[in-house]
Amino acid sequence: MTWIASTLTERRAQLGRFVLGTGIIGGVATQTGPGLGLSDSEGIDLIDRAVAEGFRVIDTADVYTGGNSERVVGVWNKAQPDSGMLIQSKTGFTSSGPDLSPERVARQLQHSVDTLGRVDLYFAHTVDPNTPWSESLPVFSSAVESGRIRAYGLSNVDRPALESALEAADRLGLVRPELIQNSYSLIVRGDDLSVLPIARAEGLAYTAYSPLANGILAGRYSRGEQPEKGSRASTGRRTDEFLGDPGLMKRVEAFDRLAAEQGVTPAGLALAWLANHPQVAAPVIGVSKESQWQGIHEALGLQWTPELSARLDELFPAA
Ligand SMILES: NC(=O)c1ccc[n+]([C@@H]2O[C@H](COP(=O)([O-])OP(=O)(O)OC[C@H]3O[C@@H](n4cnc5c(N)ncnc54)[C@H](OP(=O)(O)O)[C@@H]3O)[C@@H](O)[C@H]2O)c1
Repeated sequence: MTWIASTLTERRAQLGRFVLGTGIIGGVATQTGPGLGLSDSEGIDLIDRAVAEGFRVIDTADVYTGGNSERVVGVWNKAQPDSGMLIQSKTGFTSSGPDLSPERVARQLQHSVDTLGRVDLYFAHTVDPNTPWSESLPVFSSAVESGRIRAYGLSNVDRPALESALEAADRLGLVRPELIQNSYSLIVRGDDLSVLPIARAEGLAYTAYSPLANGILAGRYSRGEQPEKGSRASTGRRTDEFLGDPGLMKRVEAFDRLAAEQGVTPAGLALAWLANHPQVAAPVIGVSKESQWQGIHEALGLQWTPELSARLDELFPAA
């Protein structure tokens, strides 16, 4: 018995066409400080807007923005007990590395439930090489069995990690993970031939974070502009690698032209690719400014064709 719907269409109805990323409330990703991210009131407005836009899931994590993201989502959620929004959080990253020890996962889940008001979907945020899945997954599994959370997932997993998690869950008779949240976009396609086939075969819902590759696919940096302080790109782990790769940036320029030809912004085209992907239930998107909603509207409105899909695959082949 699974809680997450089994078909792509049903998953998109259950989770929404986009998941709201809140790693930009009170800072950016794990960084905080003056000028970084949205203020509390801007964060609350962002969530209200996402609800009005038809979003169904609010994504956060214990490690985001020094706890500001969970705190602000909690303020919003506790004030809207009947919103019907799904609250999704994660644990596993610490300042000293991954930690999915069962005691810590249990403690962090309690902390997130207290802060957020409730947690519907809970993720192991990373793989912990020092804690076998046979030790960490029972905490997630019993949280589902006791009704504390509805389902759980794995984030930042490669194929071997995913396979070993499923093997451990089955061997121990645990509730299985039902969701994946990995970095996936037109320029980060490492999961195409590894994690996605397993997710399909095992019936796991796949969600994609960093759908714009930290803004690189948003047409902002392809003409030599450098990421300004406070931008998502300025904190993105792979920004320098992307910007320092002339071959990739040439393809991003060609992508920008293709978007213009289709009458949409680059962000709109990058999000449309994921919104029409045969296996992605929903991209997780952070929207830091009013103008950025346009990309989401374009993604949902663009007439998708096999030709367009093929042209994008040619520009950015499956890894
Ligand atoms: N599981 C994980 O390990 C993990 C890791 C990273 C993120 N996430 C989740 O995924 C969410 C999104 O990740 P991300 O921030 O890395 O996503 P992203 O899609 O790579 O970048 C989002 C950023 O792109 C810019 N943007 C968004 N819409 C735009 C538009 N229409 N036009 C131009 N720029 C646009 C904004 O940057 P500016 O603020 O610079 O304008 C925004 O913060 C996070 O908030 C978090 O919830 C999860």
